[in-house]
Amino acid sequence: MTEPQSGRFRARAARPIARDNFVHPDPSLGLCVMASPNDPVPSLTIVRGRVVEMDGREAEDFDVVDRFIAAEAIELAVAEEAMSIPSLDLARMLVDIHVGREEIVRLFGGLTPAKLAEVAGHLDVLEMMMALRKMRGRRTPGNQAHVTNWKENPVLLAADAAEAALRGFDEAETTVRVAPMAAMNAMALLVGSQAGRPGVLTQCAVEEGVNLRLGFKGLTSYAETLSVYGTAGAFRDGDDTPWSKGFLASAYASRGIKIRFTSGAGSEALMGHDEGKSMLYLEARCLLMVKGAGAQGVQNGSISCIALPMALPGGVRGVLAENLLACVLGLECASGNDAMASHSEMRKAAKLMLQFLPGTDFVTSGLSVMPRRDNMFGGGNFDADDLDDWLVLQRDMQVDAGLVPVREADVIAARTRAARALQAVFVHLGLPPITNIEIEAAALAHSSEDMPDRDLVADLADSTELLNGPRGVADVILALDAGGFPDVADNLLRLQRARVVGDTLQPSAVLNEEFEVLSAFTDPNDYRGPGTGFRLEGAAWERVSDLPQARRTSEMLARAVDKSGFRLHDGAVARVSTDVQEVVIALGPAFAGILGHTIGELAHREVLAALARGVREEGLVPRLVKVRATADCGALGHEASRLSGSGIGVGVQSKGTTVIHRRGLAPLDNLELFSQAPALTLESYAAIGRNAARHAKGEPPSPVPVRVDNMARLRLIVPTLLMHKAELAEVCSDIPALEVTPDYVPA
Ligand code: 5AD
Ligand code: CA
Repeated sequence: MTEPQSGRFRARAARPIARDNFVHPDPSLGLCVMASPNDPVPSLTIVRGRVVEMDGREAEDFDVVDRFIAAEAIELAVAEEAMSIPSLDLARMLVDIHVGREEIVRLFGGLTPAKLAEVAGHLDVLEMMMALRKMRGRRTPGNQAHVTNWKENPVLLAADAAEAALRGFDEAETTVRVAPMAAMNAMALLVGSQAGRPGVLTQCAVEEGVNLRLGFKGLTSYAETLSVYGTAGAFRDGDDTPWSKGFLASAYASRGIKIRFTSGAGSEALMGHDEGKSMLYLEARCLLMVKGAGAQGVQNGSISCIALPMALPGGVRGVLAENLLACVLGLECASGNDAMASHSEMRKAAKLMLQFLPGTDFVTSGLSVMPRRDNMFGGGNFDADDLDDWLVLQRDMQVDAGLVPVREADVIAARTRAARALQAVFVHLGLPPITNIEIEAAALAHSSEDMPDRDLVADLADSTELLNGPRGVADVILALDAGGFPDVADNLLRLQRARVVGDTLQPSAVLNEEFEVLSAFTDPNDYRGPGTGFRLEGAAWERVSDLPQARRTSEMLARAVDKSGFRLHDGAVARVSTDVQEVVIALGPAFAGILGHTIGELAHREVLAALARGVREEGLVPRLVKVRATADCGALGHEASRLSGSGIGVGVQSKGTTVIHRRGLAPLDNLELFSQAPALTLESYAAIGRNAARHAKGEPPSPVPVRVDNMARLRLIVPTLLMHKAELAEVCSDIPALEVTPDYVPA
């Protein structure tokens, strides 16, 4: 790109969005999000209970994906009925509140991949969001955390896991920077999370063989590492088939480990095996394989490939479409938003809203609770620095996107406890000791840079031993119990019990703090339009709206109250003067009374002194009056001019808004209005005083210097309202204006 000539184009070229990548579609390269010209036309032929043709391909030409889908995924009993319904009608059912989730899942189970993609093609993003609201499995939305660190420090990992748990995440995922740390990381995450909030599910994403062994040892309780791809070529590259993935899923499930597959737009194109098909059509194939394999759910939304659909037109829409397709197939959906999607905060937030607002089973597939540098998933789309933004958005929209506000003291306490619990486990298992200095650092750290270095080699050796040796979660439980953490031990035990019972194998399952299952079975999404489904109300809404940074109005107003002891002495009823040498300054009813400062935090005493000095500098005499009948700035100015011998008056509200008025002008007309009180300095008030005097002398005024602060209104709008209310409360319509004299009353 050549350097822009226009200053405005140059400014935009320097913005973060300019660093994002955009490419025109090229279906021949798989660069097409939805509706590739190479996508097949939907069709299905069933003969004697067998699929003999699907999406334009005869059974003898099926590839491994077609074969698996035809044999395992499509509900043949409903297929004929479902496939005969026009795609547009099916799309309309998705947004029709009179058609319930169960009916959709029943019917859509009979659709082919091409038909699913075609149905989604009829929906715009708003309609997809409506549909997602209805179609997610669990009634209560949730979220997943990412917990890792660059130093592979287990103490910090445990502390971060506890914080994630406290913040409301239902699942927490870790991984490794150095492969042999898998077992130790899994254990630290497990202990830390259960010390933070009982019932959080955890996983450590590593190579499948190790991943499975971690699960067998009870060190993890879910896995979402099983990738599927929409073409046979992509599978072949990974030495896999849908059957091998299904077998692996069953191995996890046999030990009560919750399974979620991974798929999503763009992986096939990136691997060079897209067959010129659209990303959404290939994803529909993936989702049917997930279903056919018997997995309860999937994480999609492009996941690690997100930058690719984001480079294409309709990419964000396509990603929402794949989340929705997962749900219509009855699958749990962790809806992505975890891998870096854009340089632009605005674009990232806008994209997030498509899942954040409808709510999904897991709004992100992992929100980093650490700063970016410590995120070993390649840096997150959102991280620790964004947590407050997230909480504010929930409060703005009255939406539960899985998190709750926390207090710093509670966070530090939970982090400390988690680190101590891990220390106890290390002692009892004879692992490299955790020092109290490490615990303190982990409780307060911003990132792993704040952690003292551990002997990584020793940790790696013991982690390997933990993985390969006989020890498992039972030893961790015993160690916690012996080490003075019987409650954390009990939480771990109850988690194992949930596994044995198979509780977390229910679709969309998470555990609450009582280890009760919330799933598509026990907490089914019953959304059917207004007044139904999950609503953020009552105690839960109170909790979400209770941000630590929200202040009480009394606290906010306290800053405006004067503590200096400066007062105005009331004198006689203000007279109408004929002295052409005077300028009357009329003050609002709360001025130097219940209020003592302007909104710009200038003391009323100083403001009056500056105004009076200005008037005097031009050779005129100021006269102070206090108005009780009105708090309106225009009316104050009007009253001042009526009383003033020169006919020029200055009206000053307690919050500092000021007007220069001339007798005879209508109340809302004026000579000069200074409506932005926060922009006024003492020098401005002196200049206002000078200008008032000049108007009285018939001389031209000079410009009043003001501070430019575009954010003042944003910062001060609530205090402004409160100050104005306080002033209005002092209004007494039948009390006339009084002469006043400044005075000091010892406070
Ligand atoms: N499709 C399939 N697998 C994916 N993964 C990430 N994105 C996708 C995708 N779009 C895989 C990663 C890793 C796991 C977390 O998911 O390669 O193995
Ligand atoms: Ca994840």
